[in-house]
Amino acid sequence: MAESNNPQATLAWDGKAVSFPVVEGSEGERAVDVSNLRGQTGLVTLDPGFVNTGACRSAITFLDGERGILRYRGYPIEQLAEYSNFLEVAHLLIYGRLPSEKEFGRFEYEVKHHTMIHEDLKRFYEALPKDSHPMAVCSAVVGALSAFYKELADPRNAEQVDGAALRLVAKMPTIAAYSYKHSIGQPFVYPMNSLDYPADFLHMMFATPCEEYAVEPALAKALDLLLILHADHEQNCSTSTVRLVGSSMANLFASVSAGISALWGPLHGGANQAVIEMLEEIERGAETPASFMSKVKDKKNSVRLMGFGHRVYKNFDPRARILKKACGEVLSALGRTDRLFDIALGLEEIALKDDYFVSRKLYPNVDFYSGIIYRALGIPTNMFTVLFAMGRLPGWIAHWKEMHADPAFKIGRPRQIYIGEKRREYQAVSLRT
Ligand code: ACO
Repeated sequence: MAESNNPQATLAWDGKAVSFPVVEGSEGERAVDVSNLRGQTGLVTLDPGFVNTGACRSAITFLDGERGILRYRGYPIEQLAEYSNFLEVAHLLIYGRLPSEKEFGRFEYEVKHHTMIHEDLKRFYEALPKDSHPMAVCSAVVGALSAFYKELADPRNAEQVDGAALRLVAKMPTIAAYSYKHSIGQPFVYPMNSLDYPADFLHMMFATPCEEYAVEPALAKALDLLLILHADHEQNCSTSTVRLVGSSMANLFASVSAGISALWGPLHGGANQAVIEMLEEIERGAETPASFMSKVKDKKNSVRLMGFGHRVYKNFDPRARILKKACGEVLSALGRTDRLFDIALGLEEIALKDDYFVSRKLYPNVDFYSGIIYRALGIPTNMFTVLFAMGRLPGWIAHWKEMHADPAFKIGRPRQIYIGEKRREYQAVSLRT
C-alpha cells in the first residue's frame, strides 16, 4: 500500500501493476476501492459471506469489533442505553440527529397518532394459521402494508418515504402484538395514546377486554432498553437484505418485510429464541453445562453455543455487557430469580476459561442475555425475534434512506465464479439414460 496523501494499493496481475485507491473512514478504517477492478483487469473479487467486503459508505453506526465499541451516529451505546429512549434513538438513526424537545414532541405525537392498523388488515390475520411463527405473520403483514399505502411507495419522494417510515415505526408494535394475540386466540387490544411506546406494546400484548391491566414501569423501561440496544448494527444480514431489496427500487414496506425474514434465521436474530431453548434443555437435565459444552466443541456435532460468537465482535459485544447487568437489575426489581440466568452465567464462565472459545475469540453476543429479560417481561419465546425486529426497524429505515440518498446508488448485483458444467447439447428425454 503506497503511503501518500492519496494512498493506493497495487495489484500485480498479468504482467501489469494496477493501482486502486485506498479510502479511509472517519475512525481510520481503510478499504481498497475495487469498483474499477473488473474494468482494469477482467477480475472480480470472491469473498464468500462478504467477510472482507465493504458494501457502502455509511454514516449511521460505527462498530469496532476488536475493541468492543458500538456508536449510533457517534453516540456511545452505553450513553444511549443509560440516558435516551427508543423513540429518540429512532429519530437519531432515521433523521441523523437527536431531536430538540419540540422535534421529539412532534415525532412522538405523530407516531402515537399512526399506531392503529386498517381494519381490513386486521382481518388479514384471520387467514393465517394460529400456530404460525409470529415472524412469518409480521413479515406478511408488513409486506401487506404496501398494498394499503400505495401512495407512500415511491422511494424517490422524500415525503412519501417519511410517511412510510413513520407508519412502520408507529404500527410495528401493533402488528407484533396482534401476531401474538392471534396465536393465542385472544381479541386484539387497540393501541392507547396515553401510553409511551414500550408501555403501549406491553398493553397490547397482555391486556384483555375483561379486566384492567396496568403496565409495570420497570418492565416498560427494560423493554425500551432492549429496543435501543437492537436499533442498529451496520451492515448485518437483515440490514444488508433491506438495502439489497431496496436497491431494486422496491418500496420501504416491501424492503422491511424482507429484512424481517432475514432476521428470523437462527444464525441472526433467531438466536435469542435458540438461546432460551438451549438453556431450557440444560435445565430439564437433558445435558449438564459441562456435557453440553463438550458437544459444542466436538466438531462431529453441529451444535453451537447459541448467543456466542459474532462475525464482527472478536471481543465482548458491548450490548451483551449492558444486558447482563440489566438481567440482574430487572430480576431483582421484580423480586424474582431465574434458573436459566444462572445457567447462562455458568456457561459464560466455562466458555471464557476454555481454550476453544478463547482461541476463536468467541464471547457472548446480544442474544445471550436478551431472552432472560424477555422472559421476565412475560414475552413468549417465539416472540423474542419479533421484538428484535421492532428494535432493528429504525436501523433498517435509516440504511434504506441513506442508500437512496447516496450519489453512488446502484442496484445491488454481485458477481460469481461459475463452477458448473461447460456447454453441452440438449437431448430428447427418450435418449437420456
Ligand atoms: N459455538 C461453537 N463454536 C462456534 C460458535 C459457537 N457459537 N461460533 C463460532 N464457532 C466456531 C466455528 O465452529 C469456527 O470454528 P473452526 O474455526 O474450528 O471451524 C469458528 O468458531 C469461527 O466461526 P464461523 O462460523 O466461521 O464464524 P462466523 O463469523 O461465520 O459466524 C456466527 C458468526 C454466525 C454469529 C457464529 O458465531 C454463530 O453461529 N454463533 C451462534 C449463533 C448466534 O449466536 N447468532 C447471533 C449472532 S448476533 C446477531 O445476529 C444479533
